Amino acid sequence: MRFGIHTLDEFDLAGKTVLCRVDINQPVDQKTGTLKSINRIQACVPTVRELADGGAKVVLLAHQGSDIEYKNFYTTAPHAKVLADLLGRDVRFLDDVTGPAAREAIRSLENGEILLLDNVRFCAEEQTLFEMKLNLTHEQQAKTQVVTKLAPLADLYVCDAFAAAHRDQPSLCGFEQVLPSAMGRLFEQEFCVISGVMESPARPCVFVLGGAKISDAFLMMETVLKSGAADLVLTGGLVAQILLLAKGEQVGSGSLEFIRKSNYESFIESSRPLLAQYGERIILPVDVAYLDESGKRAEAEIGAVPADICVMDIGSKTAADYRERILAAKTVFV
Ligand code: 3PG
Repeated sequence: MRFGIHTLDEFDLAGKTVLCRVDINQPVDQKTGTLKSINRIQACVPTVRELADGGAKVVLLAHQGSDIEYKNFYTTAPHAKVLADLLGRDVRFLDDVTGPAAREAIRSLENGEILLLDNVRFCAEEQTLFEMKLNLTHEQQAKTQVVTKLAPLADLYVCDAFAAAHRDQPSLCGFEQVLPSAMGRLFEQEFCVISGVMESPARPCVFVLGGAKISDAFLMMETVLKSGAADLVLTGGLVAQILLLAKGEQVGSGSLEFIRKSNYESFIESSRPLLAQYGERIILPVDVAYLDESGKRAEAEIGAVPADICVMDIGSKTAADYRERILAAKTVFV
């Protein structure tokens, strides 16, 4: 056991059917449907390999969004091919999650074989909106379709989906109600690193928070500023644009339109108390980059941002400033 959670070391895997929840949610090219990155598939390889080498019948459960706004979901079929290449062994894929075909395929697995089921979020009960609106307890999650159909076929549940572990969904919280459970190696490694950063980081400890998953980024920013884990938070992406707007700066009508369209406008108001309380430790860009009319990168200082642009990046002065701060840090969390 580590951190009060069972590890793979405690289980004899040979001949056991193991349901392993992985997070292989990758950015997808909207036009071609292909994966733009495979880093998360790479990251789950050690756990999957250990399970298969240990003689387990490995059943992988995963989700794949089409974009960050949950507009749609994609199949996990391409992931099976990538995983097979990385492992150098077969990974069977089935376009089913809980139906008779999936259950039959699980029953027919031999020791050491690997099966990836289709996107678990094709099951309605797994979806994020469902999670937020219904707030199923973990006991109720154990009664959902995905758990009641798959758990009886398995001996062990392994969660290696650290990057999705903040989701309160049946594939992440339901199985451990009814099956012996453990964390996978990636989860164990991530938990170990993050516990160290949260509890006793080498200082200065700098968090770099950007991207477009606004609610997660602001929640995290507040947590690490309040706890004192973060000496500084360097901001970029939409996070920085929202904070700049909260301070009364302009970021261009294109940026504002995107923020409105994504329903992120409320964060402008709700981030003001954060700025008021921790403003000295929250570092904002001093300049930004955008695409000019000819499609080339152009830059503008905050305070002189052209009215009609959409911010695409931090500017080079900001990049130089962040570089110095990152080089001076003893812990950098991105
Ligand atoms: C992620 O990409 O952040 C994780 O896979 C979780 O995905 P989600 O935000 O769609 O739940």
